[in-house]
Amino acid sequence: MIETTISPDLASPIDGLEIDDTTQRRLFLDARSNTGFTQREVPDTVIRDVFDLIKWGPTANNTVPLRVAIARSDEARAAVIANAAEGNRAKLEKAPLLLVVARDNRFHDHFSVTAPGSEATAQRLEDAPDRRVSMATSGSWLQGGYLIVGLRAAGLAVRPYGGFDAAGLDQSLFEGTSWSSMMLLGVGYPSDADHGAGPRKGRVAADVGVKTL
Ligand SMILES: Cc1cc2nc3c(=O)[nH]c(=O)nc-3n(C[C@H](O)[C@H](O)[C@H](O)COP(=O)(O)O)c2cc1C
Repeated sequence: MIETTISPDLASPIDGLEIDDTTQRRLFLDARSNTGFTQREVPDTVIRDVFDLIKWGPTANNTVPLRVAIARSDEARAAVIANAAEGNRAKLEKAPLLLVVARDNRFHDHFSVTAPGSEATAQRLEDAPDRRVSMATSGSWLQGGYLIVGLRAAGLAVRPYGGFDAAGLDQSLFEGTSWSSMMLLGVGYPSDADHGAGPRKGRVAADVGVKTL
């Protein structure tokens, strides 16, 4: 096996960046994919405010296709858990709040705001549903990353989940809408006692992941 990763024990603040150590730790170095949380409630306003912050991250053609469903009601929460892979259910149940990260396959309906003057493009996209799904998918993955970092910046802990039945969840939560689920997030305020994420695995480091040409 190639030794490419920096040991997670060596995840210490990096000098010379205009990011203070506390922020480096909160967003990256100490941020884990938690399953352990305090019971402190996460209000909708925090999620909405974080969305309003991270919406400014760039997307291709400014499509801004990310949508977020807060599974607040007992019914919505139960639907998320029922459609999760079996191995994910107990972990999701431990999260005080569940979010469904979704894409809007009709992002072009908002072009008057996101792409003023692009009526012709909107019409072309109207007639190209596969292209819209592909654009919405790549854009919402990108924005999903911004969302995770934004939630962590707001002091929350987040574990993402891809193991769930997206078609089943869409049927339960998004029937008759243009939203499709992409990823689940278990969200809450981090517990000092137990992050629940196990020992941290290493990462591919810059010596492998970055090339100067
Ligand atoms: C797109 C995506 C899908 C994931 N799917 C699952 C999942 O189905 N179940 C799970 O327990 N963790 C899942 N994870 C969590 C990853 O395993 C975890 O983020 C990674 O191992 C890094 O852990 P750390 O942040 O604690 O270092 C997923 C993460 C991402 C980003």
